[in-house]
Amino acid sequence: MGTLEGKIAVVTGAASGIGRASAIKMASEGARVVVADRNGSGAGSVADFINEAGGFAVGVQADVTSEDQVRRMIDTAVDKWGGLDVLHNNAGTTDVADVGADTDITEMTIELWDYIMAVNLRGPMLGCKHAIPHMLRRGGGSIVQTSSMSAFAGDLRYAAYGASKGGLNSFTRYVATMYGKQGIRANAVCPGVVVTPAARVHFDPVMLELYESHHLTPQLGAPEQVAEVVAFLASDAASYVTGQAIPVDGGLFSHLPTYAQMRTMGD
Ligand SMILES: NC(=O)c1ccc[n+]([C@@H]2O[C@H](COP(=O)([O-])OP(=O)(O)OC[C@H]3O[C@@H](n4cnc5c(N)ncnc54)[C@H](O)[C@@H]3O)[C@@H](O)[C@H]2O)c1
Repeated sequence: MGTLEGKIAVVTGAASGIGRASAIKMASEGARVVVADRNGSGAGSVADFINEAGGFAVGVQADVTSEDQVRRMIDTAVDKWGGLDVLHNNAGTTDVADVGADTDITEMTIELWDYIMAVNLRGPMLGCKHAIPHMLRRGGGSIVQTSSMSAFAGDLRYAAYGASKGGLNSFTRYVATMYGKQGIRANAVCPGVVVTPAARVHFDPVMLELYESHHLTPQLGAPEQVAEVVAFLASDAASYVTGQAIPVDGGLFSHLPTYAQMRTMGD
């Protein structure tokens, strides 16, 4: 008996990386999963993978910046399986063309800023807007956002991305506060550096090594390690956890800034 037996879930940005791992993990725990992505064929492939492994999934093409497409994505779960218990708002800006251009604030275009906010912040808001009424009808549900440790600290680039994820953590607390008494929990997972297709494009081997030297774990993160936490938060085992932004970062933010240099200095 899986921890999500009988649950109905929607995962956005589920054609790749963390979203793909989350959809597969939740299905393996017994959930029926709507695998949503703006890349419709990629979503279909992940759904096929789940179904071939004996699970239950359907792929849906949905761009989270579009309210019509988000509504249709949520309706797919309700029409096919009768309701919704879990929403994993995972889709985020990971393309080099957008987050890669998020560099100097004095060069920031309104279009880039608005696009990053539209995917990373408006998308989860639209997901919640259309999912919550269905969850309320079932007496509750669990919403998990994929945020980022970039929400908590500054960097030399990614100001729009970091601000959008900080906003997402704040929005999560509002959802948890407004609907907690009606049985809805909302939490965010904040990954460190997770080696997904996007991370491999963004960071060359030197950068990956630098990030690894600041992790306390032997390796950087894997999508499946984040998916484990998402599936826990989605399940009733996390019934006393809500309103949180939870680091899933291999200890990236839990040591003194001198840690990596000190290790190279030896005893
Ligand atoms: N990989 C990391 O190191 C890392 C760290 C912190 C946070 N995150 C967050 O994790 C989430 C997933 O990232 P990933 O690393 O798995 O990336 P990924 O590129 O492997 O997957 C992202 C998926 O989202 C989809 N997507 C992008 N824009 C979309 C939109 N508007 N509507 C629907 N789908 C859309 C893409 O098609 C892709 O399938 C993102 O929110 C990202 O910000 C990733």
